[in-house]
Amino acid sequence: MTGLDMAGLGKADLETATLEAVGLDAWAGALREAGFVFVHGPDMGAVLAAAGLRDWDGFARSWDDLGMDTYMADGGRYRKRRHAAFAVSAAGLQRKPAQPHYQSRDFNALNGGIARWFDPVTEAAADGPAFQAILRTCHALFDGLTPAPAWHVEAHQFRIEARPGQSGQPTPEGMHQDGVDWVLVLMVGRVNIASGTTSIHGLDRGLLGSFTLEAPMDAALVDDHRVFHGVTPVQPLDAARPAHRDVLVLTFRRESAPIAA
Ligand SMILES: [Fe+2]
Repeated sequence: MTGLDMAGLGKADLETATLEAVGLDAWAGALREAGFVFVHGPDMGAVLAAAGLRDWDGFARSWDDLGMDTYMADGGRYRKRRHAAFAVSAAGLQRKPAQPHYQSRDFNALNGGIARWFDPVTEAAADGPAFQAILRTCHALFDGLTPAPAWHVEAHQFRIEARPGQSGQPTPEGMHQDGVDWVLVLMVGRVNIASGTTSIHGLDRGLLGSFTLEAPMDAALVDDHRVFHGVTPVQPLDAARPAHRDVLVLTFRRESAPIAA
């Protein structure tokens, strides 16, 4: 892993970076080979630090202020979230106006088929160096693998709460694809949580790998065309205390036209 050698991924680097130059070649190789890769937090942390990550703790605290997801077709009130959309290209990053999150029922039989409006990611979180470093790193990786004039990126802050006798389901729709090109699932924090194992499956539904995102910045990177992903329900370790699992999900979908300047 040569991530520690990175000089940082500034705006100009988005135009010129090669995966080797920015130290992402190992992850890119795994994604080409297997369609997914699990990354340990310290490795992700080194890459993100070189890309300008600062104030991770402040970024993580923004998960304490998410809105309830009221669209849960299973009636669950265990998922909180915020959402934002961005246009990302070599020209840079642009936040798009607030828009609903839409998945067809083909990709989300439980909660898809309707436009779902969620509270927006706060400007402080979206403009902060942690989120910017994560977004730029993913762009360099995914655009390096499959170059595109521009990318439609959606960011989801999720908090899954678990209570005694009521587990929280990170993926209530079960094993699924997101209907995009590339996906990052980044662990932000676990408090009093047991289980919650991420599994990756081939298009024939056979298990290809599993990994529990435990430590901050543990991550799964996924080729959404080649594999399904899912997460097992979570329970509290200590039933007497609050329990939650916080993750950031970024989805990247190719757009044919670059961003207007
Ligand atoms: Fe997903």
